[in-house]
Order: sequence, then structure tokens, then C-alpha cells
Amino acid sequence: MKHIKHIIAICLIIVLYGCFDKKNNSSMIGIKEQILEEKVDSLLSLMTIEEKVGQMNQYNGFWDVTGPAPEEGNAELKYEHLKMGYIGSMLNVRGAEEVRKVQKIAVEESRLGIPLIIGFDVIHGYKTLSPIPLAEAASWDLTALEKSARIAAIEASASGINWTFAPMVDISRDPRWGRVMEGAGEDPFLGSAIAVARIKGFQGDDLSAPNTIAACAKHFAAYGFSEAGKEYNTVDIGTSTLHNIVFPPFKAAVDADVKTFMNAFNELNGVPATGNSYLQRDILKGKWDFNGFVVSDWASITEMIHWGHAKNKKEAAILAANAGSDMDMESYVYINELVRLVKEGAVKESIIDDAVKRILRVKFELGLFDDPYKYCNLENEKNNIGNPAHRAAALDMAKKSIVLLKNSTQLLPLKKEGQKIALIGALAADSNSPLGSWRIASDNNSAISVLEGMKKYTGNSLTYKKGTDVSIGNTEFIKHVNINTTDRSEFKDAISTAKKADVVVMVLGEHGFQSGEGRSRTKLDLPGLQQELLEEIYKVNKNIVLVLNNGRPLAIEWAAENIPTIVEAWQLGTETGNAVAQVIYGDYNPSGKLPMTFPRNVGQIPIYYNYKNTGRPIDKDNNVFWSHYLDVKNTPLYPFGHGLSYTTFEYSNFNLKESIYSINDTIKLSIDVTNTGNYDGKEVVQLYIRDLVASITRPVRELKGFELTALKIGETKTIHFNLNKETLGYYNNNGDFVIEPGDYKVFIGGSSTTKLERKFTLIN
Ligand code: BGC
Repeated sequence: MKHIKHIIAICLIIVLYGCFDKKNNSSMIGIKEQILEEKVDSLLSLMTIEEKVGQMNQYNGFWDVTGPAPEEGNAELKYEHLKMGYIGSMLNVRGAEEVRKVQKIAVEESRLGIPLIIGFDVIHGYKTLSPIPLAEAASWDLTALEKSARIAAIEASASGINWTFAPMVDISRDPRWGRVMEGAGEDPFLGSAIAVARIKGFQGDDLSAPNTIAACAKHFAAYGFSEAGKEYNTVDIGTSTLHNIVFPPFKAAVDADVKTFMNAFNELNGVPATGNSYLQRDILKGKWDFNGFVVSDWASITEMIHWGHAKNKKEAAILAANAGSDMDMESYVYINELVRLVKEGAVKESIIDDAVKRILRVKFELGLFDDPYKYCNLENEKNNIGNPAHRAAALDMAKKSIVLLKNSTQLLPLKKEGQKIALIGALAADSNSPLGSWRIASDNNSAISVLEGMKKYTGNSLTYKKGTDVSIGNTEFIKHVNINTTDRSEFKDAISTAKKADVVVMVLGEHGFQSGEGRSRTKLDLPGLQQELLEEIYKVNKNIVLVLNNGRPLAIEWAAENIPTIVEAWQLGTETGNAVAQVIYGDYNPSGKLPMTFPRNVGQIPIYYNYKNTGRPIDKDNNVFWSHYLDVKNTPLYPFGHGLSYTTFEYSNFNLKESIYSINDTIKLSIDVTNTGNYDGKEVVQLYIRDLVASITRPVRELKGFELTALKIGETKTIHFNLNKETLGYYNNNGDFVIEPGDYKVFIGGSSTTKLERKFTLIN
């Protein structure tokens, strides 16, 4: 009889559990935790060292590959290890039937029958795709963000998955890094709020429900600061940036009860994140008291050998386990080395026990021991995958993610009748690229293209011309995109169509696979011949609406100067074309705001709104001795928080009652916002502070509050904010949170460059 002791222990606990007063919530939580610990301990006590190490082993499945496949991996070995209980988790196995197959072996053929936790990169949807995460962040709409993650969890869980490797909460200031598409941009305050919303969406209120999944805050830590934006590169940053910029979204994730963390490919100040005990033991499991588990990134344990941090696989296993990496994703070193290392005394069994307990805890919380097949119901899968309600939500999210960057001649919204519209650009007719990167479970070419979306508006004449291809040949998740840099054969046709049009809508930008993992770029212009095409068309017709498709901020200085209307439409997922068309035609008034600064050129990078003032911030008398470049302005092309609407908003009555506050006070502020234009609309009201003098210099602005508000034409609303110790303090160079008396400025408005400000003094 399998795990009989374990079953007895659980029965006892259940009886005990029934004896307590269920109304007493906090003691109930304590009791639940105690019961959970008892279950975990009793199971652990039955396990051999081989089975324990098996729980720490994660293998890739059998077909999708999201990293370089290691030599060791073959299906036969994986099946064998499943039977022996040597696998705790698999990634990239999907589909209710496929997951059931592997789960059945783990549960029914291994000695203890411990179920697998099944991981997958559910990054912006599963089958139904919402916009890429950076785009969603542009909505600043936490309710919508949570809903989007909820839907992703519903679809993924219906397909056998119970653990997503999301959200990526890496803050980044470098758009050369392709993975900025996967995060929430450059700001730790916005990034934290979005991390929490996404975690709530994935994990729901009850992790044991069949349609919620464990989330994973990744990549711990500082991956977004890879030097020069180059993928997998060195990170060398100081304490202040680490604590004030990098850590906050991770800390927020722990506070939101995220169940797992993933470490990172990068090294941090000389120590690879995977073998970094300061990060994983001191900060995460120590100071922050995280009790979930940490998975390595794909083969990042063995990559410590290439980093020159571990001599061989054995040493890599020792370093990673001791540093607190609980599960090995695809390095094969835990399974091959750890048992021996424990026997030799190089890794203490208590380290293994701690890791296994963390993993088992999450499995119990998911309810996998009650029903290991709860995510493997074919009927459920059929009903939930691609459900029309999910598509409706994806459309809503896509519209909310669009940012109107410029509309200087009010070309938008387009008139719905009597216009000759030329639609130009290969991306306009593309139904694959808008799905963006990280969309393995969705079908290729399943997005609504902009062309399809525009065709639904039948009052105008619409002529489509490609103009130029962006990519040539096949585009695949694991391959480089080949960009067309030579073929201009379709320019002529596009130019003559544009010449005859009232308005030219040009859809230009990056292919969906030009951003994402492994897609760093040194140029951030419109790839291939697209800039040339844009300039040629501009020569014959200046009424251009430029619709950008991209997974990162682009440096489009010429377009920003010359093109009257620019719409940032990112890669918006399954419903892309409908969302773009509805915004262009004014059926939806855009309200997105940039979560990341757009540079004028690559030389300005890193450029971000919360920079430090320097000792020489201003130009006096046109001399050279101040902080600037000779050849480009200091300002960005479009700042963080920027985004227009078809209507206009006016701010008034900025109200801050006192000029002096005590450090313990809650400072209450308010401002009136009025819709002064001709459309109903939404505005993201943003609050920034500046701590003028501090022991550790503070940024010129820091976001500390925001509210998305809907205003009808002529309507005024009063928006309230609070500032307190938590928002006014910062981390000093010992990593301690401090709040210092002194003078502060506070700014409120519709972008990070707002001029509306008040001042106050904080006293002890
Ligand atoms: C990525 C992770 C991802 C993992 C599994 C790695 O290459 O860095 O973010 O979760 O692969 O697909």
C-alpha cells in the first residue's frame, strides 16, 4: 500500500480541523498552514534521498522547446524517470490528454505517486492572446490586467497546465533588450502594481480551484539591466538601483503571495543569479520570508560553468542548491549530481529537505494531491479554449493598450464615410506577427489583421498595398527573422495608391519575433526598408496615420517630427485588427500611456524619466560644461506616462492643505480633472514626487500614485491621493528602508513631464 503513513496523518489532521471554530478567520489561516506543514512533513518523511532530489528536477516535455535542448534529454529517459519518481515537474507539456499521460505515470507508477507540477510560459494568454505584456502595461488598468491574467489561467488550466512562468517583473531601462516586451516597463511603482494584478489574476482567490494556476515572479534578479541591452549579459549595478528599482516588484510579488520565483541567466556584480545566495537566501527567503520555491531558468545552473563561476556540473549543483535554487530546469545536474553530493556531505540534506518542502507545499496548495487530473478534463478544455468571452476580453484589453502618441492635425478619428483610404505596409495584412513573441500554445496566423479589422468599416473605400515586406521566409519562435533590406519592387504601387488617397494608414514596425528572448537590437528604427517607404509616401501624401507595431520603444525621430498622427499599437494579440480599427475610427477613444520612455536615438539609452539631476543639470550661457550631448537634446522623444486622447483634459484645484507634515502623517492631496474636449474619454492621472535633498540622491521624479478615470464630455472629477511613509521613503545603501525629513515636491498630471507642482516639508 502506497504512502499509508501519509494518508493516516492527513486523516488525523482533517478530524482535528473539524474541531475548530470556522468563524475565527485568522486562527483558521494559522491552522490551515499548520495542516499543510504536517502534510508536507509526513510525505517528506517517506521519501528516499533519490525521490527528494527527483522533486527538484524539472524536464522539458517532448515537443515545444524554449531554450537550447541539452544533450541528455531523450524521451525514453524521461519516461523512465517518471516511473521512478525522479521528476517533480515538467514544462512544455500541454493539452489535457498529454498532461494526463505523464501525470498518470507519475501518480500511478511511481512508488509514492507524487503528482507533477506542470509549467508553461503563459505570458500573454494561452490560445486566446491578449496584447504583449508591455502593451498591457500601457493600459495602466489594473482591473483589466488582472482579468487578462485570469483568462490566461482559465485557458491554460483547462489544457493541463497548473503553473505559469509569469509575470516577468524585470524592470528595464534599455529597449535594446528584446525582453522588455515581456515586462511592465521602466518604473518600479507601476511595475509592482501590475505584478500584483497579474499574480491575482493567475492565482485567483483559491489556488486549489481547477481554473487557477501558480504564478512565478521572474527573473530574480536584475536581468533587465543586462549590459548594453545584450541578452544574457553581465549586470553590474549598485545597491541603490538594486533596492529601489529592481527589487520592488519582486517584493510586491512576495507580498501578493506569489507561489514561485525563477532566478535569472545574468550574473549580478560577479555572481550568477542562479548561484547567488545573497539574492535567494538573504533577501528572498530571509528578509522577505518567501515560502514558495525557486526554479532555475532554463539550464542556468550549468551555465554557471560558462560564466566561470563553477568548475564543472558537480560544482554548479553545489553552488545552486546551497544558494537556494530549489528546482533545476533542464540542466540535468540536480538529478545527476545531488544524491552523491549529499552522501559526500557537499550539500546538506537539510538544504534538500527545505527545497522539497517548498515544492510539495505548492503542490498541496494547488490541490494536486486531492485530484492530480483536475486540469485534465477534455470537456473543460473544449469549452474554455478560445471561448468567445475570452476573445471579447482580449479585444477590450487590446484597445486599452493602444497609445495615441501624436495627433497634431486631428487626422484621427477617421471619418467613417466618403474617404479614400490607402492602407500600406506588410504588417497591415499580417495575422501572425501581431500575436507577438511567447505564444506557443496559440495557432499561427490566428490574429485578426489590421486589414481585416479595417474592412469591417465599409463606408470608405479601402485599398491595401504591401509596399515592402518586413520579413522574408519563415518566421519561427526559435529562429532569427530575416528582414527585407533589398526588395523595393512594390514601392511604386504603394506610392501611386497613396497619392490618390485622402488618408494613408501605414502599419509599420517590428515583426512579432523581432522582440522577446534572444532578440536584442542595436538599432531601434523601423526595420528593413520601412523608413524609406514612409519617406517616399510622405513625399506624395502628408496625411499619414502611422500605426506602429513593436515590442519595445522605437527611435522614430523622423516620423515624430514629420508624420502628423502616430498610434502605438504594439503587438496586440488575437484581436489586433479589430482593436486598431475601432480606435482609428473613433469607436474607442484611446487612453494608454507609455510604460517606457521612447528615445530619440539609440545613443541616449538608457534614458528614463526617474533619472538623477547630476551636479550640472542646466545650460547657463550656452557653454559646454553641463550634462548633455552635443548632437541630441536631453529630452526623450516621448516620455514615460505620455499618451493622448481624442478629447482634452484640464487639471485644476491642485489641493495640498498644509505646507508642513510630520513623518508619520498621511498626506492627502486632490486635484480636479475636467474633460474639456468633444469626446467621452479616460485619463490616467499620475502623481510623482521628488525628495529634494537626501542622504542618497533621489530621482527628479518618482511615480507614487495613479488613477485611471473615465470622464464624459464636460465632466469634472476630483481625484484623491495619499502619500505616506511607504511612498515617501526609500532604501539606503545598506538596503534599509528610510524616510528622511526635508523638502519634497509633488507633481500631478497626465504624464511624467507635468508642470503642476506643490511643495511641502516633512519634519520629524
Ligand atoms: C526563459 C524563461 C522561461 C523558460 C522556460 C527561458 O529561456 O528565460 O523566462 O520561462 O525559458 O521556457
